[in-house]
Amino acid sequence: MERGGVDGGGSGIGRACCEVLAREGARVVAADINLQSSQETLSLLPGSQQHMAVGVDVSDKGSVEAAFKSIQKHYGEPPSLLVNSAGILALAPHTDTSEEEWMKIIDVNLKGTYLITQSFTKMLLDGRGEVQGTMVNVASIAAKTGLPDFEPYAASKGGVVSLTKNCAAALIRKGIRVNCVLPGLITTPMIQLLKEDLQADIKKSTPLGRAGRPHEVAELIAFLLSDRSSYMVGSCVEVTGGYMM
Ligand SMILES: NC(=O)c1ccc[n+]([C@@H]2O[C@H](COP(=O)([O-])OP(=O)(O)OC[C@H]3O[C@@H](n4cnc5c(N)ncnc54)[C@H](O)[C@@H]3O)[C@@H](O)[C@H]2O)c1
Repeated sequence: MERGGVDGGGSGIGRACCEVLAREGARVVAADINLQSSQETLSLLPGSQQHMAVGVDVSDKGSVEAAFKSIQKHYGEPPSLLVNSAGILALAPHTDTSEEEWMKIIDVNLKGTYLITQSFTKMLLDGRGEVQGTMVNVASIAAKTGLPDFEPYAASKGGVVSLTKNCAAALIRKGIRVNCVLPGLITTPMIQLLKEDLQADIKKSTPLGRAGRPHEVAELIAFLLSDRSSYMVGSCVEVTGGYMM
């Protein structure tokens, strides 16, 4: 049975990934800075006793290492599938973004993705000649577009795209496939930070004419985690309803 870890698993796209992976028969670890929300995710999964909820702050190396150790202890082996969905959004006008705000977003979205990748691959490769693992990072279409007030968020997601490609090149010969997705506007708690008129503008510019649902991203992620995408390496796939295509 596959073992899948999802950070940011307590909400939105991460929670939908937990649901889709569980439906496909994986044992799922829902990891989130908000432990209560990852426990809530667990309660939504069929066969919840075989799954696990973990508290983790992806921007903190000690917390990430402790989370992987607790997963290893619980299952006797590390996860073989991983989704990096933890993320934060904050909007700030160019001249008003403080150094602290800038670093917070980079720390969670970019450094966090790196720290999780590093611990995941170290644990999976540890003492093993050949492994089979897949990982999907959640970037954003903001990585490729220019939107006012999105600078630190967009830069962090541009970094995730670059990190994906470089990790994919480094890890594929060791048996670990890495890809990423670039969602457009998806209806999750995160977008409550966007003003109604901005959301309306984005929907208007989206050929499909609406925001996406978390499961529409999670189904793509499940495909990228599976052998059905065996020839995809370092791919960054847009899932946007056509926004900014
Ligand atoms: N919703 C969108 O429109 C959209 C679009 C493009 C990309 N994304 C990306 O998708 C991912 C999921 O976002 P979402 O829309 O589901 O938002 P969400 O707010 O519903 O979920 C994000 C989750 O990440 C967790 N989290 C935040 N900081 C963390 C940390 N330091 N350590 C561990 N967990 C942490 C939160 O507690 C939350 O459960 C994010 O990376 C986001 O940037 C979202």
